[in-house]
Amino acid sequence: MTSPNKKQRITKSKEVTCSAPVNIAVIKYWGKRNTALLLPTNSSLSLTLNQDDLRSTTTIRASPDFVSDRIWLNGKEENINAKRLSNVLSKAKELRKEMEEKDADLEKLSEWGIYIASYNNFPTAAGLASSASGFACLTFALSQIYDLSINLSQVSMLARLGSGSACRSLFGGFVKWEMGTKDDGSDSLAIQVASETDWPGMEALILVVSDARKDTGSTEGMQLTVETSELLKHRIEKVVPQRMLDMEKAIAEKDFDSFAEITMADSNQFHAVCLDSYPPIFYLNDISKAVIKVITALNARSIHTDPSGKKKGYKVAYTFDAGPNAVLYMQREHLSEVLGVIDYLFPRKSTQKVGEYYGKAKEVLENVDKTN
Ligand code: DP6
Repeated sequence: MTSPNKKQRITKSKEVTCSAPVNIAVIKYWGKRNTALLLPTNSSLSLTLNQDDLRSTTTIRASPDFVSDRIWLNGKEENINAKRLSNVLSKAKELRKEMEEKDADLEKLSEWGIYIASYNNFPTAAGLASSASGFACLTFALSQIYDLSINLSQVSMLARLGSGSACRSLFGGFVKWEMGTKDDGSDSLAIQVASETDWPGMEALILVVSDARKDTGSTEGMQLTVETSELLKHRIEKVVPQRMLDMEKAIAEKDFDSFAEITMADSNQFHAVCLDSYPPIFYLNDISKAVIKVITALNARSIHTDPSGKKKGYKVAYTFDAGPNAVLYMQREHLSEVLGVIDYLFPRKSTQKVGEYYGKAKEVLENVDKTN
């Protein structure tokens, strides 16, 4: 099997390594109006988490000697012809080919084979947005290896073809995904609303209630909701458009009270439309519900109503994606208090070291080299 000469036969190659973080939505994407192009039924808005804790790293190597494209996810070879993956790859190659047709001096990279290794330093498919960071990372790496002359929002459209929420992970800070109205999806893309430094001191705390794979994946779950939920129609027509405007205003004004109210209301409504689907989808478990009660009680101690009727004094906001894990957003001055309460009421089972990530993906391709 091992053939040292084979490695030497690689005449030329090009390699890039990129890493991308997850994003957690405060206005949720749930529903597609076009399942092939992954066009959503509503706009959404998220925060990109900038720590090393939740990241995907992808190494891509291209060579004219690779006879076919191949992909490894967390060290295990996966099917390169999986629909969404092949949509992303063929679109990226198509864009490269267009460039090569215009400029004869360009290397014909679109004809080379590519090996891709992607690595998550956190549980995959457990409601921790692994597809978001994974596809964001893959498409950014493709745009780099092919030197595509497109801006980040255009890269986000490519990422969207892999997984909707992935388009928002191309940017840092506060990011919205404009649902767009065109049938070809050319206006359904991500835009940065504010950078991380525009609102410094915003912290995210992730409570991993369970790292098991979820029963109902987001893709199938949201289509079930589109097909069966009356409440979803109300949400996409009457609720989300105003909420997007209110959330952007809250971010621009660094108004944490409005930010927290909208975030929690939107998480609640997202889980309500899941329950309104048939058969109903349950993502929250008893621990998730206990977290909601604790956060509500914690906020109740400091909330007061000002003369204009606005509630003020929120310390923390919860949000839950398609799984039982809670993400808490708060301003840095409340972090130690919130952490103290959470640690006291929900003692940690284990303290997990952040998984190593950079270099892991590259290592996978190096091992392939050795065994080929
Ligand atoms: C609850 O982006 O995973 O996290 O587009 O089918 O891949 P596909 O779905 P995905 O759905 C994410 C749903 C969510 C909300 C959000 O991130 O906005």
